Amino acid sequence: MSGTVAVVTGGNRGIGSEIARQLVKLGMQVVLTSRDAAKGAATCKTINARHGTDGGQASTFKLEVTDAGDIGALAAQVAEQFGRLDVLVNNAGIQIDPKGSRALNSDLQTYRDTFETNVLAPLALIQALLPLMKKNKHGRIVNVSSGLGQLAEMSSGTPAYRMSKTALNALTRIVAAEVRGSNILVNSMSPGWVKSDMGGPYATRTLEQGADTAVWLATLPDGGPSGGFFYDRAPIAW
Ligand SMILES: NC(=O)c1ccc[n+]([C@@H]2O[C@H](COP(=O)([O-])OP(=O)(O)OC[C@H]3O[C@@H](n4cnc5c(N)ncnc54)[C@H](OP(=O)(O)O)[C@@H]3O)[C@@H](O)[C@H]2O)c1
Repeated sequence: MSGTVAVVTGGNRGIGSEIARQLVKLGMQVVLTSRDAAKGAATCKTINARHGTDGGQASTFKLEVTDAGDIGALAAQVAEQFGRLDVLVNNAGIQIDPKGSRALNSDLQTYRDTFETNVLAPLALIQALLPLMKKNKHGRIVNVSSGLGQLAEMSSGTPAYRMSKTALNALTRIVAAEVRGSNILVNSMSPGWVKSDMGGPYATRTLEQGADTAVWLATLPDGGPSGGFFYDRAPIAW
């Protein structure tokens, strides 16, 4: 993996920081983005102290994923510093539905804000960073989705979050179709219910378990699956 370059959004904590750590451990140069530069730098320091001798390295870049200026600056920085990008993990996400929220009584602004972060930001990041993957004819895009976005299991509760993850899955399929044949593989994954600030202390899975499938998809060999939805390295229903 040495020489390969990855961008992980929302890398300062939770599942994103664990994905970044595992990619560094595999020897990648990881641009760990964080909307708070100091928090990103602190997470990089921890990762590099643990894995700096494995050949990989984490560096941070300040990225508010809903800010077009930040996204443009990130693409310019990656181009200048590395001249390539192999992996984009769209991990940053929010779940801001008020407790007990139902579609029938919810505020539309919650949906607008949720979609900005969970759907439109991944789209904007793909648009900005895909040229760097195309240049090298190598790319792996991982969209961190959720079982709550599965239409097959769709039910009530957290409606804005659920709808945003369903839309993110649609984005996965659309982009996968648009880049088919270019050695850029685009997939969605569900981490399961993971102990993080979002998942809470009663969640059943560790950060390591939650990050594993994203790392697997980020390191797929040429000819690997694209346009799929995975949980624990196995395909699941949309
Ligand atoms: N935990 C679960 O059980 C679970 C289950 C299914 C799916 N997921 C998905 O897994 C992903 C990571 O979740 P997590 O559990 O690690 O959540 P988390 O602990 O709440 O961390 C979320 C991360 O996203 C970042 N973020 C949120 N909005 C952002 C924005 N506008 N710009 C830049 N960064 C932003 C946060 O940055 P700050 O620190 O600055 O807030 C943080 O780094 C999310 O997409 C989530 O939907 C989680």
